[in-house]
Amino acid sequence: MTERKFFYGILVSVTLLFVLYALVKNYMVDPGAAEFLSHKTGLKRELNLPVWLNVMYVHVGFACIAMASGLLNFSKRIFEKNRKLHRINGYIYFVSVLVVVVTSGYMAPYATGGKISSIGFNALNIVWPLMTITALIQIKKKRVISHRNWMIRSYAFCFTNMFIHLITSLFHLGFGLVYPTSYTLGIYGSFALLLVIPEVIIRTSQISKTPS
Ligand code: HEM
Repeated sequence: MTERKFFYGILVSVTLLFVLYALVKNYMVDPGAAEFLSHKTGLKRELNLPVWLNVMYVHVGFACIAMASGLLNFSKRIFEKNRKLHRINGYIYFVSVLVVVVTSGYMAPYATGGKISSIGFNALNIVWPLMTITALIQIKKKRVISHRNWMIRSYAFCFTNMFIHLITSLFHLGFGLVYPTSYTLGIYGSFALLLVIPEVIIRTSQISKTPS
């Protein structure tokens, strides 16, 4: 098995497990988001629960579509066998990212942790679509390597929620910090990591391609 296949296999496993977890948790186990909402105290704006919940359902649904369509488009086999599928799937990814960002824009003012958390989410709302649009522009200009690299950068942000919850749990359950502070650290921590990890992947994959 090649190194590329091995890492793609890990990506497939992590993505599918997380998508399954997100769907089961948010649509079946806790559809009212009672657990998550219990941490929202002292909100400056009144939260319209039915609207917030519906927006959250759309957000999670399209986030899962973005994760799945992005994953499919990183498959070398699918790309080589069916360019049309890669293109259609690419547009599905693009539209899904936009829907996730728009719904995020609605939820951001009510974010757990208050204003600092809202600012973090709004920064993500700008950076993520910009990266995705850049990837699209690059392929329109037939710059394949640059398109691939920007897609790696964009796709990393599909793991925002997973990283937020991992980092939040580390600070809340591991270090005993209160939940809202841990959540804010989760937002900024995952933002930083999701900017750095793709750069490491891009650099190491280029090094491994350079003939020695
Ligand atoms: C693509 C994968 C993503 C998934 C599966 C996902 C899922 C979720 C879920 C389940 C929630 C409800 C609360 C929770 O359990 O955390 C949520 C909330 C939220 N998400 Fe996402 N999300 C994703 C990406 C993003 C991205 C990239 C952004 C920002 C651009 C974002 C912005 C938000 C905001 C602002 C909230 C509300 C947070 C709060 O009320 O404190 N999400 N997301």
